[in-house]
Formats: sequence, C-alpha cells, structure tokens
Amino acid sequence: MVAELVVAGATTVAVGRGIATAERLLPPRPRSIAAVVAQPSTARLARGLARGLEAGGTRAEVRVLPDGEAAKDLAVVAGLYEWMAGLGMSRSDTLVAVGGGSITDAAGFAAATYLRGIEAVYVATTVLAAVDAAVGGKTGVNLGAKNLVGAFHHPARVVVDVDVLDALPPAVRRDGLAEALKAGLIGDEALVALLERDGEAADLEDVVARAVAVKAAVVGRDFTEQGERAHLNYGHTIGHAVEVAAGMGHGAAVAVGMVAAGRASALEMGFTGEDRQREAIDRLGLPAAAPGLDPAGVLALLGADKKRDAAGLRMVLLEAVGRPAVRHVGAATVEAALDAVEIA
Ligand code: GLY
Repeated sequence: MVAELVVAGATTVAVGRGIATAERLLPPRPRSIAAVVAQPSTARLARGLARGLEAGGTRAEVRVLPDGEAAKDLAVVAGLYEWMAGLGMSRSDTLVAVGGGSITDAAGFAAATYLRGIEAVYVATTVLAAVDAAVGGKTGVNLGAKNLVGAFHHPARVVVDVDVLDALPPAVRRDGLAEALKAGLIGDEALVALLERDGEAADLEDVVARAVAVKAAVVGRDFTEQGERAHLNYGHTIGHAVEVAAGMGHGAAVAVGMVAAGRASALEMGFTGEDRQREAIDRLGLPAAAPGLDPAGVLALLGADKKRDAAGLRMVLLEAVGRPAVRHVGAATVEAALDAVEIA
C-alpha cells in the first residue's frame, strides 16, 4: 500500500515499499533533462533511477556530492549550477535529489535558485529526511552558521521507500525516529502511543506516514514559519545546544532536548506527559540525558541560540500531547530543564 499525502497543496509525499522507481519520480517526458544528485552512499540507487528515467526518454545525468554537512557549502552548490548549466537545463527540467537531509537541503537550494527555480523531486533515503528535512520546502546551505542561506521551495514530489529506510544502520534509523516522536508529541497522540508500545520495532511505514501527516498539516497552515511552524522545533532549543556541546547526532540530541522541554512544560504549563515521553525515548534506544557536559558551556550556547530574546528563552512547550505552544521561560525553568537531563 502506498500512502500519499499532499503538503500545502504543492508537494505529493508518497510513503510505501519498493516505490523508489523512475515512474514515480517523473512522468515520461521525452527530451527533458533530469539532474540526479546523490551522496556517496546513494549513488548506486541514483544511477539505477537515472537508467530508468533514460528508458522513459528523459536525459538523466548523475552527480555525487560529498557526505553530510560538506554538501551544504556554497562552493558545492556553485558546482551544481555550473553542471546544470552545462547540461543545458531549462526551467522545464527537473532536479532529482536522492539522499538524506543534507542532499535535499543543498540540491533543493540549487533547484530553488537555478533559473529562479526549477522543479525538484526528492527520494528521501533516511528517516530524518523522510519525516522532516525533505518535507515542507525548506532548503539551505551553511555559511558560518547552519542554514544561514536558504529558500522556501516546494518539491513537486517526495518519495519515501520504506525498504530503503529498513536497510539503514540501526543508529541512523533511531536518530530519525526522534523526529518522528517529536511529530507525535506535537500533533498525533496515536503515534506517541505506537512508539511507546513498540519502540524501535514499530512499523516504519506507519510511523513515517503519520509523522509526515503531522508535518504536512503544520506546513499547510504556515509554510513560511510566521507562527505555528515553530512548533516543529519542540526539543530543538536545548537539543541544538546539546548537539553542539556533546557532538551528538541530531536525533539523539533532540531526544535529550525533548526531555528538557518536557520538564519546562510541566513547570510552565502543567504538562503531565513526561513519563510517557521518557518511555518512548527509552523504547527507541535514544538518550534521555547528556551527563558530563559543562552547564556554563550549554548556557552560553543557549544564549547564542536564535530562539533567545530579551524576554527570556523562547521554547516550544507542551500543554498536553498534541497541544504545543511557544513560551518565554525564565532562568529558573531553564535550570530545571537542564537538571532534568543531568546538565547541572
Ligand atoms: N525542520 C523544521 C521545519 O521544517 O520547519
């Protein structure tokens, strides 16, 4: 079965098994060009898709970008522009990104800006990309700070092949499941119950489809992040600081950040779901604390966090599962939140 969700009336996200096929990416379009961008670990999949596209009459060329954040460099994107121009790509051609969030961010930015915007299609090959990065139209590159330069650009289609996600190393899968839990906590109680009950063994197809549905609903109401879209940052304020200070993976740091935000939510909004949240994090094999970090260093990173302003630290809190809100929290709550994750 293939679940199809529409984001903001602009993107179709398909979630299913065995669906990373050329036919699903692009309708046969003789004489069109597809620039297929991959990372080293997805180059084989990308080349297979390119062969399928060629069989349908599309000229398809593959370019492999560096792994991880190294792809999100303006010089890499400049190389993409030159390559696309050399292929003779016009506004009626398509960029296909096959990879995790770094590839969809960088290649998506190239698609958003080349000729002022061409069609982008993504094959999201990590859980993190499937439930977050590739969905919702944010693209960007790093310039000193992460994602300092970027654009909102809806991909036309996102394909999530759960067979590809199933083949990921457990630690990589787990990292993405933290974002799926976050989606549940802000918008789908049944998803939280599923992850609480089944943990890492939860049916990935169901988990991804549910998490995408939460994100699609939020982005549909607030594409350019004027308000509600910030709810997707639940767990990210302290999570980002922990990610930098501890050098942890993004999802693991977000899990720690959600435990901290859960405590702040209990103090500020009477949230009673801390135990449920912790249970789901444990069952997913994600960390619930970051002991050994220097609290002053984490506080300094929080001070530099873009969510801080004169009225205190701006955090996404939960009044209940499915009822998020942005609040300013004072020093005592921040301290209690850090204490909850053993940063004290
Ligand atoms: N990753 C958060 C967002 O897409 O808004």
